[in-house]
Amino acid sequence: MEEKPRPNAAPKKEAARPPADFETRLLAWYDRYRRDLPWRGTQDPYAVWVSEVMLQQTQVATVLRYFSSWMRRFPSVRALARAREADVLHAWQGLGYYSRARRLHAGARMVVERHAGELPRQHSALLALPGIGAYSAGAIASIAFGERAPLVDGNVIRVLARRFGLRGDPNKLPLKRALWQLAGELVPAKRPGDFNQALMELGATVCTPRAPRCDECPLRAACIARRDGLVEQLPELPARAKATRVRVAAALLRDGEHVHVVRLAPEAPRWAGLWTFPYAEVRTEETPVAAARRAALEAMGADVRVGARVAKVTHTITRFRIELELYEAAPAPRVRSGAKRRPNVARVRARELETLAMPAPHRKLARMLFEER
Ligand code: ADE
Repeated sequence: MEEKPRPNAAPKKEAARPPADFETRLLAWYDRYRRDLPWRGTQDPYAVWVSEVMLQQTQVATVLRYFSSWMRRFPSVRALARAREADVLHAWQGLGYYSRARRLHAGARMVVERHAGELPRQHSALLALPGIGAYSAGAIASIAFGERAPLVDGNVIRVLARRFGLRGDPNKLPLKRALWQLAGELVPAKRPGDFNQALMELGATVCTPRAPRCDECPLRAACIARRDGLVEQLPELPARAKATRVRVAAALLRDGEHVHVVRLAPEAPRWAGLWTFPYAEVRTEETPVAAARRAALEAMGADVRVGARVAKVTHTITRFRIELELYEAAPAPRVRSGAKRRPNVARVRARELETLAMPAPHRKLARMLFEER
């Protein structure tokens, strides 16, 4: 007798059942081809935490320039917890997405207060720390503690969506949940940290967004996307919106060898706590010169006359293309500037700008103007 067809349940289950050789093939490939990265030699939970926070949203090549010097500067949770925020932001400078540094710092302080300076092993306790979400908790639990915990990031999404032929937007339900579930079924009790890193490594080096090297892939024989000619279509991420252009004008207030910079408020939506030249977004129907003047007034209480444009830089972050123009500015005659008395304003020697944490576009300007040639 024929069984009644169960339209959805059966095929879905089939597709998601972890095949036995997935793990073997992936780990064998990883053992042979993995990159030798400085954080791979450690199981120190703090080092794993730092590296994974840096690696989310930042390329390995960039993280390589930061990780080891960070670990020398803040070698332990306690050292980081003791550090001043300004030093933490300065060490992070250039990695971008500074809220990561601030949360890492707050997390270190909480680990000292609540866990005697040792990262907790329990998943729920990890998740309760600032800056540790499902991804980082999975990374720390599996890599540092050898727990059978899954993780899903952009690389893992790509590998799994292609290998198992998963349709739909991976950042939305139901696929999002299905991916975590699948990753949880796949991760083995033996070498869970290596397994998770292998998935990410494969996504980063072989199963790349464009022009993947399928011929080198240890999973190619069973890859559904490859079989069905869908490699370029999967995962089905929504088309990215074009970057919005943002025009920004900043004022360069010199005073002999000194320049004025302002520190953004802790609650600023972008670059909180970092130092910048006083700047303002150029409004519709406003000229950059007028915006530069407004910037000096609003940020420093200084009434200035704006002169020539001295530099322009362009910098793209996430959805914004920031065009930042810097204008010479001089205090207007007869008006005493109240600039120096504001606590968020500093008058520093041009060559000392290097010691302040500045966001990338302002750092670029500072280097263009003041770096010794
Ligand atoms: N991306 C983020 N963390 C990673 C890791 N540990 N190995 C490879 N790629 C990664």
